[in-house]
Amino acid sequence: MLNHPLPRIDKDEKLRTLLLPFCRFKEGTVWVDKTGGHKIACIDISKKEEVKKIFHKENVKLSVQDPPYNFIAFTEKRNDEFIQWCKDWIILNIEISDKNSSFYFWLGADQSNHFEPFGGFIEMMKTSGLTSRSFITMRNQRGYGTQQNWMAIRQELLYYTNGNPEFNIKAEYTDIPKVLKGYYKNIAGEVTENLERSKSQFIRAGNVWIDVQQVFYRMEENVNGCYAQKPLKAIQRIIEASSNKNELVTDFFSHSGTTLLACEMLERKCITFDIDPVYCEITLRRLENYRENKKTGWQNSNPFYKEIKNDKKILNHLKKKYNITYN
Ligand SMILES: C[S@@+](CC[C@H](N)C(=O)[O-])C[C@H]1O[C@@H](n2cnc3c(N)ncnc32)[C@H](O)[C@@H]1O
Repeated sequence: MLNHPLPRIDKDEKLRTLLLPFCRFKEGTVWVDKTGGHKIACIDISKKEEVKKIFHKENVKLSVQDPPYNFIAFTEKRNDEFIQWCKDWIILNIEISDKNSSFYFWLGADQSNHFEPFGGFIEMMKTSGLTSRSFITMRNQRGYGTQQNWMAIRQELLYYTNGNPEFNIKAEYTDIPKVLKGYYKNIAGEVTENLERSKSQFIRAGNVWIDVQQVFYRMEENVNGCYAQKPLKAIQRIIEASSNKNELVTDFFSHSGTTLLACEMLERKCITFDIDPVYCEITLRRLENYRENKKTGWQNSNPFYKEIKNDKKILNHLKKKYNITYN
């Protein structure tokens, strides 16, 4: 069986430097898709004018944003800076979006520090001009915690809109069958129970998503080397609920390229960014791997396997630092 692990690239600057020569991206590179209409741009999204140029006059219908909240060290000042930084790119995000558009923000909430940056973020959003629509919680299977507290397994996801975008309710249904009978209601003189009345035999996801498997190394969609990969199923649900075929979706923080891949699968166009050339390269390789092999990730291997297996420097580094050898 294949076993080609790749540790977190963000935590290992040497590994990152060794992988850079295999990347087709450097600061400022924009990859333009010839078939699906996607773009991948290696640009810091704080650079407003550069970001705007990538969109030309195309209006975004849906934004799926997963900012890197792990870089704040949770001092009050760093948190304020993070919120201000978010405010700036959200203003830009609204400027490049359609007057009727949807916005989803994945956030963290540190329970040992007043649930920041969540608290500051929702306060700041009151001045954004967007309308708050839903506070979704996705249940992670693995959590963190101690024996003295509730295990932390939630992932916060905020849904906002501008204007009056569509919401495709069909996307909200899970694969979980409805089993509970009961809740009788009198409709036009006839008493019915809820299973008779319902349009679907499955339950709706609602704003607590319990049916999405957190990405881990045994899943096909797993991308070794990444550290913050969101499940395809969650992103697909968002895209299907809040956009239509051929519409434009954006993700400012691509990382493993989940939003772009979900757009490819669901026939949307995606313009995505990452400040780091390595994650832009991973995003592009994930799309290429899907187009060539119909695979959503690398499970027991990784996006750079072909290069690493012939590169003595990387093999030595992996062996020395992690005792990893490739078969
Ligand atoms: C939390 S991860 C996103 C995970 C992604 N949703 C996925 O499913 O793989 C955040 C990403 O934002 C990128 N990033 C950080 N600062 C950025 C900036 N100023 N501009 C663009 N990308 C940035 C990081 O390199 C990282 O890959």
